[in-house]
Amino acid sequence: MSATSQKSAPLPDDIRKMKGGTPIVSLTAYTTPMAQMMDEHCDFVLVGDSVGMVLHGLSSTLGVTMEMMILHGQAVARGLSRAMLVVDMPFGSYEESPAQAFRNAARLMAETGAAAVKLEGGRHMAETIGFLVARGVPVMAHIGLTPQSINTLGGYKVQGRGAAAEALMADARAVDQAGAFSVVLEKVPATQADQITAGISIPTIGIGASVGCDGQILVLDDMLGLFTAFKPKFVKRYGNLGEDGEAAITAYAEEVRSRRFPAPEHVFSDKAPKA
Ligand code: KIV
Repeated sequence: MSATSQKSAPLPDDIRKMKGGTPIVSLTAYTTPMAQMMDEHCDFVLVGDSVGMVLHGLSSTLGVTMEMMILHGQAVARGLSRAMLVVDMPFGSYEESPAQAFRNAARLMAETGAAAVKLEGGRHMAETIGFLVARGVPVMAHIGLTPQSINTLGGYKVQGRGAAAEALMADARAVDQAGAFSVVLEKVPATQADQITAGISIPTIGIGASVGCDGQILVLDDMLGLFTAFKPKFVKRYGNLGEDGEAAITAYAEEVRSRRFPAPEHVFSDKAPKA
């Protein structure tokens, strides 16, 4: 199954069944036009809490709120008809207790129409994942570099190297056994990503992981070259929209100042057009 061979959006269980098959294609989106652009090409679209850094200029994802996720989730939902919608649970909305997680996950799903939520954490979130899944909330887990924990991880470092590989594998097994339908592996060595992919029953979605993962995800603004604040090693730029955009704005400013814009074709005559 692939996004281009089906008519309606896949469900979390369809994504789960893609394990070991044609790689799962996914991107993040935050707005309706972005979602419309990728709908035909992606199996699922994630409204990531990276929205805080990419669109709102925050220095980390920690300040992202439920209201932001709902607003962007609703915008993205309006642009999708074929790809499945997943919305990130923001920092502080699920860690306190399974009951808190359920309350906020249910709100995200009800108010955005998302088919699933994503949350960060391995073994320590397994109980919460099980609680959510048992109550009708499909969960995509996210392990390895979990940006909501940068203050305890000590920055955006590669996770699971050397002796830490065992703990990473334990996290992957824990979220699999807890009932997650897939797991994002962020910024982990390729060998570890391959071992995890072979060692668990659910699809792995790589970002800075391995070409051997069951799927890949990138932040759209990163891969289009729109978010230029920094470029992680794992980002491949498929476009240079940031540079193109700046060149367009420079040309516009120059034409406005020299009164070359608007040109005659951009203004209205006093005569009403003929019917
Ligand atoms: O917030 C986000 O965009 C994400 C992806 C990078 C996986 O979590």
